Amino acid sequence: MAKRIDLRSDTVTKPTEEMRRLMAKAEVGDDVYGEDPTVNRLEELAAHMFGKEAALFVTSGTQGNQVAIASFAGRGDEVIAEAESHVFFYEAAGISAIAGAQTRQIPGDRGVLRPADVRQAIRNKDIHQPRTALVCIENTHNRAGGTITPIATLQEIHEIAHAAGAAVHMDGARLFNAVVATGIGEREWASHVDTVQFCLSKGLGAPVGSLVVGSREVIDRARVWRKRLGGGMRQAGVLAAPGLWALTNMVERLADDHANARHLAEQLVAMSGVRVDMETVQTNIVICDVEDTGRTADEFVGALRRDGVLASAFGPTQIRFVTHKDVSRSDIDTAVSVMAKLVASLRR
Ligand SMILES: Cc1ncc(COP(=O)(O)O)c(C=O)c1O
Repeated sequence: MAKRIDLRSDTVTKPTEEMRRLMAKAEVGDDVYGEDPTVNRLEELAAHMFGKEAALFVTSGTQGNQVAIASFAGRGDEVIAEAESHVFFYEAAGISAIAGAQTRQIPGDRGVLRPADVRQAIRNKDIHQPRTALVCIENTHNRAGGTITPIATLQEIHEIAHAAGAAVHMDGARLFNAVVATGIGEREWASHVDTVQFCLSKGLGAPVGSLVVGSREVIDRARVWRKRLGGGMRQAGVLAAPGLWALTNMVERLADDHANARHLAEQLVAMSGVRVDMETVQTNIVICDVEDTGRTADEFVGALRRDGVLASAFGPTQIRFVTHKDVSRSDIDTAVSVMAKLVASLRR
């Protein structure tokens, strides 16, 4: 069978041979007792890299976001989040179901919250209003197409939030894509937020897991939430070992994914009837709109799949492609020619 070119997400990446070797020989213990040496090493490394006091290894990006949010916001509080953010859009209403808080959704500019809008949305001390406990930033922003929140914007939002007594959490599922694209290190990004969640299992290629970094006090609270949610894993060193490898060896290569995404976007935007907002093509995600072809995203995705190219329908006429370590430049070229053939066939 011909190779499938899977551009649905960077979550489809498979662990490398080296990761599998490290998994097999990982030193392990009971992590709920704090005795897994490999998990402890991973948490220490993450805290050190991000310049925070502590870190927590969690099962997924969603769990990391939710334990962080619940550590800041409780029943009857309000959490500000971008209107298309993952924490609001894709986490099964975890903010209300787990923390018991309500979400205030603010549309951003290509996924980037405007500081003035955050200032405006923060509640006054008033018997009628909820307390604004937290502002969530998504960097890079998935539904906006992998866009980066500029560091100056982050700093401004952080200052506004802190002045009002609210914390800032960064959903940095793909923060390392922002690190590589901007040259701004993770420690600098983390210095403008209280907590960061970042994923090992997306572009970095590890099979499972995310980390939350923050102050000792907040991470202690997040550890209780992780336990409550059933995320207290035991000999989790077998999962932390490939994560350690990913964190130390897989970051720089994200630049290849960004170059492939740009190449893909440039080819797509040149096809008649296909639109791409090139300003959003900043990291490893490309979203194109096929409305002008008269076909739906589902029709396109189905036709691409029949020719071995997997992509995600991301709206009625929007298709998302995500580049990652398991697709090469030549795979991208193949995907482009499949898409070009499809577009040409519609015009006849
Ligand atoms: C921005 C963002 N945050 C969080 C997550 C959740 O990660 P997970 O799938 O590991 O729960 C994702 C997953 O795609 C994401 O794109």
